[in-house]
Amino acid sequence: MKFFIDSGDIGEIKEAWAMGAIDGVTTNPSLLSKAGLPTRKAIEQICEVVDGPISAEVLATDTQGILTEGRELAKIHKNIVVKVPLLIDGLKAVRVFKAEGVKTNVTLCFSATQALLAAKAGASYISPFVGRLDDLSEDGMELIQQIVTIYDNYDFDTEVLVASVRHPIHVVQSALMGAHVATIPFKVITQLAKHPMTDLGLAKFLEDAKKIPKG
Ligand code: E4P
Repeated sequence: MKFFIDSGDIGEIKEAWAMGAIDGVTTNPSLLSKAGLPTRKAIEQICEVVDGPISAEVLATDTQGILTEGRELAKIHKNIVVKVPLLIDGLKAVRVFKAEGVKTNVTLCFSATQALLAAKAGASYISPFVGRLDDLSEDGMELIQQIVTIYDNYDFDTEVLVASVRHPIHVVQSALMGAHVATIPFKVITQLAKHPMTDLGLAKFLEDAKKIPKG
């Protein structure tokens, strides 16, 4: 299973990369608005740190605009994945990008039917937003199970990229369900490493080590 970091913060991205925790990065306009840099500069900076797929989102919502913007983003670096909103115009653009060899991440997916259409259009990744579904008292992880099953049933190449991850249980369930990727905020990446028994056990070892005679 691959982990991406869901962040526009270069400090967080460097730290997660140094941990060996991540295989790629996803950004969105909300995350990049916190980076304090023009989008192109922020994405270039991320490409210098991480050697893996880096999703950069278009702002256009019509097919021609998405194609123009996406082609510009794709020129930044070979690792760029153009992030396209799940609109009918977006799906049309994904089909063209596929023919041009440009990788795509179809974002803002909230249903299995949307995921099916993205796969049929040739998306490289589909991003179902589990946390935002949970916020509405729906079961985000149930959607992941449905999409993984449907893609398996028909051998679609599109990878399931679990997005809007809020806590470690989302990550564990994604792995158990066989999702290809989870994109995880930095705070949750650090939570994955934590266990109170590890801290207690280490404190005891270090305490007992003081009793070992010096040699
Ligand atoms: C990822 O690609 C999405 O943009 C992101 O996971 C959304 O997360 P949020 O619901 O926490 O904003």
